[in-house]
Amino acid sequence: MIQWNNEFSVNNDAIDNEHQSLFTALNDFYEGLRQNASRDSMGKLIDNLVFYTKTHFANEEIYMQKIGFPGIENHLNEHREFISKVEAFQSKIKEGKLLVSVEVTNFIKNWITNHIKTQDKQYAVFVAQK
Ligand SMILES: [Fe+2]
Ligand SMILES: [Fe+2]
Repeated sequence: MIQWNNEFSVNNDAIDNEHQSLFTALNDFYEGLRQNASRDSMGKLIDNLVFYTKTHFANEEIYMQKIGFPGIENHLNEHREFISKVEAFQSKIKEGKLLVSVEVTNFIKNWITNHIKTQDKQYAVFVAQK
């Protein structure tokens, strides 16, 4: 389980809220795994996680554009790479080719938390210096 706290703040309420929703979707997914949910349920939980991730990335990209963040290109690539990895999990889970494991969940959790703390924080620093 992952809990949002101020360490994840990027000094923008809308984005902080989106990150919290992302954590909730991730926690729901983890909870499904913990409770041995059916493949069908896990499919729905990963759909939800992918949906929140895409929605958030799209909004964040608009925000970075709006503030003229110079590192946007690299940031977009990071988002794209993650989406393609998670979409690969998504289809494998649905086809029954991948058993959702703690490793899968941890990969997603570590990526998201690292990304917020290292990448997302960069536009927060940029805005603060503007
Ligand atoms: Fe983000
Ligand atoms: Fe990001």
